[in-house]
Amino acid sequence: MRRSVWLAVACSVHLAAPVLGQAAAAAPAAAIPVGADGAKIFAVTCAACHLVTGLGTEGKIPPLAGSEWVTGNETRLVRIVLHGLTGDVEVQGEVFNGAMPTWGGAFSDEQIASVLSFVRRSWGNKAPPITSETVARVRAATPSRKLPWTVKELLQRAS
Ligand code: HEC
Repeated sequence: MRRSVWLAVACSVHLAAPVLGQAAAAAPAAAIPVGADGAKIFAVTCAACHLVTGLGTEGKIPPLAGSEWVTGNETRLVRIVLHGLTGDVEVQGEVFNGAMPTWGGAFSDEQIASVLSFVRRSWGNKAPPITSETVARVRAATPSRKLPWTVKELLQRAS
């Protein structure tokens, strides 16, 4: 009797592991204690779409490797991750039209700073890190923002 109970527990653990793995991939931001480790946040959250190579997928998900949005203006970059992005966006000469989710509610200023600092120095990207003070400043500038940004809006705002 006791033995069969242990067996049942062991089996359910084996079964649960892959199922949990799938749930994590589908809803990466939910309840995963990621800490402020940029590489880890990237792997758990962003790589689901942009891939661990940072290359994205052709015609669907834009690359972060070599992206002018990643290495360029830091305020725009922070806005994209805080609130998301929708509509046409040109990256390395290719136009994408998808929907980048919003992460502002899922991550602290420090976590967003560390994942962005990670993407700015990965895959050959060479741009200075983003500080949590910068993320806090950008977040505070549009506290009631709910909608994802469009490129037009981002470019209209000077900083
Ligand atoms: C569900 C898929 C998905 C996830 C997860 C995701 N993105 Fe995106 N991301 C997109 C799509 C799609 C776009 C393009 C949006 C558009 O066409 O307007 C994009 C655009 C971007 C851009 C601007 C364009 C570029 O390629 O440089 C940046 C920067 C970016 N994402 C960073 C991140 C970071 C950092 C994370 C993790 C915190 C992340 N993304 C997670 C789908 C995703």
